[in-house]
Amino acid sequence: PEKGLKDYYKDYFPIGAAVAPRNLTGPEADLIRQQFNSITAENAMKMGPIHPEEGRYNWTDADAIVQFATQNGIRMRGHTLCWHNQTPRWFFTDAAGNPVTKEVLLARLKSHIETVVGRYKGKVYAWDVVNEAIPDGGTDFYRKSKFYEIIGEEYIERAFEYAHAADPNAQLFYNDYNTESPGKRERIYGLVKRLKEKGVPIHGVGLQGHWSLQEPTAAGLEESITRFASLGLKVQITELDVSVYPKEHERRARRETDKSEFTPEMNEKQAAHYKMLFSVLRKHKKDITGVTFWNVSDKSSWLDNFPVQNRKDYPLLFDVNLAPKKAFHEVVNF
Ligand code: XIL
Repeated sequence: PEKGLKDYYKDYFPIGAAVAPRNLTGPEADLIRQQFNSITAENAMKMGPIHPEEGRYNWTDADAIVQFATQNGIRMRGHTLCWHNQTPRWFFTDAAGNPVTKEVLLARLKSHIETVVGRYKGKVYAWDVVNEAIPDGGTDFYRKSKFYEIIGEEYIERAFEYAHAADPNAQLFYNDYNTESPGKRERIYGLVKRLKEKGVPIHGVGLQGHWSLQEPTAAGLEESITRFASLGLKVQITELDVSVYPKEHERRARRETDKSEFTPEMNEKQAAHYKMLFSVLRKHKKDITGVTFWNVSDKSSWLDNFPVQNRKDYPLLFDVNLAPKKAFHEVVNF
């Protein structure tokens, strides 16, 4: 078979994709096997899907994804153990529907993390332990999530400790988006620096990489990589995609009528942007231990429904028919 992304990048870093069980049969499965040597569960390991009720776990989808990885010699990233989204209501409330105490919530978090990380011990090599704990703007240092409100900032280090205890060999990441926004970058830096100084078992920072044709700049991306790496942390791009829609349109473009075809101009701009991004990533290969795309091809991306329902996006290296786009050729031509 043809050379895949993973082959072009074998001297740099593993290349991954976020997957759901439906991607693991037919032509998409073939594309995954050909192109990628890492996968992440797009949703299956999140609290809601995997732990829908207290004491009841739904392992079906996560197990299927882990099995696909194992059978195909693909490494597996875990996503995610503690997040304010896609977490069931029961987690934060007692039987009467009242908020639980700090002690109860910590005990639930511990039990959840021990159970999930324990099940995939030795099979999932890296975990996004805490996801998106820092807000985009404003004056608050921490996002005011239910975890923060009930437990306080301590929930973050506890989550890392629980994960480390459950699998001491797993690489543990703090993961977030908008990491090239200077204010947010500084807060994330402050957070992970303090975790490192306290001896909390954290090994890396995940830059989600939900980018656009305009962002980030080469300098902005380099600044994030070098700043986090200066703390002795590894960096991964964990959820890479390049939307063809301008970010500033997000607020007003919330109608299906704003959607566009994938134009030749978008194709050119996106290819140039991906080329730049990957040249920066290759330059920093010493600090980068993985680059994962958020989905496999433009046939189906989460951005088709975010931030606008039903607005088709074209953010990946393979088109709606799974064929390589110009961006693919720019990424592998170096
Ligand atoms: C997204 C999934 O792709 C969607 O299918 C789901 O409906 C919502 O979550 N940041 C993250 C990911 O860390 O977990 C999100 O994944 C995308 C944004």
